[in-house]
Amino acid sequence: MTGASTVSETSIVGIELIHRGKVRDVYQVSDEQYLLVATDRLSAFDCILPTPIERKGAVLTAISSFWFDKLKDIVPNHLITTDTNEMPESIRNIPELRGRSTLVKKTKVFPVECVVRGYLEGSGWKDYLATGRISGHELPAGLKQCSKLPEPIFTPATKAAQGHDENITESEFAEIIDKETASYLRSTSLELYQKASEYAATRGIIIADTKFEFGIDKDGEILLIDEILTPDSSRFWPADQYEPGHAQPSFDKQFVREYLETLDWNKQPPAPPLPDEVAAATTARYLEAFRLLTGKELPKA
Ligand SMILES: Nc1ncnc2c1ncn2[C@@H]1O[C@H](COP(=O)(O)OP(=O)(O)OP(=O)(O)O)[C@@H](O)[C@H]1O
Ligand SMILES: [Mg+2]
Repeated sequence: MTGASTVSETSIVGIELIHRGKVRDVYQVSDEQYLLVATDRLSAFDCILPTPIERKGAVLTAISSFWFDKLKDIVPNHLITTDTNEMPESIRNIPELRGRSTLVKKTKVFPVECVVRGYLEGSGWKDYLATGRISGHELPAGLKQCSKLPEPIFTPATKAAQGHDENITESEFAEIIDKETASYLRSTSLELYQKASEYAATRGIIIADTKFEFGIDKDGEILLIDEILTPDSSRFWPADQYEPGHAQPSFDKQFVREYLETLDWNKQPPAPPLPDEVAAATTARYLEAFRLLTGKELPKA
């Protein structure tokens, strides 16, 4: 289903689709390359909404690419190019793929999510309420929902094929992969979060938490993969409205969530469509996230 200038689903003749995520379509371009295509699908309350968000795929692609460049001195990454003119002809010739496609080095993915939290929200907040700790990290008593943590913590999770990822301790993490790699992924994730969150803070955005994935390429090198530090893989909060003690407005999905809460919808699929003005306001939010982070307007693809 594709609206005037949105893309909800892609297909590329002659290239194998290997995975359709909630937002991204993943293709195998060759033995060594994948194409990650960010569509304009939006999920809220874990459901994909029937209304695509104009320019969302382009914003997500550009934000990840911005960070890959900014953080490349910390760890090598999988990005080859986001310029479709440099891609195989079967991709280059499809206008819909422009601006939303990332050609990457294919890797064998470590089956763990490398989550870093600087603030207390989501499953971290739930675990803290239940046990006073997250992934084995003992935390001070009396923290509120969305409190800033004394220091960022690494709280890995399993990559569940279906359903929700499960938080694991650092020793469980080290059992899934080897000890030395586990220690490298942990310190690298913390360093990436530190550098990115310090930068985002200077641009008025709090990165409350985020998730990284790593894989190993054909030469045995560990690469940072997937999308990084986007509103889809992280919690972005507007810094000027930050106040612990309750949920924060989400940078990108605020209007969507507020609208959906006004409906008598049980949060089970199928999700209801969004009114035009909610979709347009959400596009504006994504564009603003890009502008704030990078200091530039997102060029039209
Ligand atoms: N360089 C890479 N090599 C191998 N796999 C990769 C690479 N980069 C990303 N991936 C994989 O591509 C997949 C992207 O699909 P995913 O299901 O995360 O899509 P999504 O739209 O982000 O959905 P969700 O919102 O459910 O996370 C992930 O399984 C990720 O591990
Ligand atoms: Mg994903």
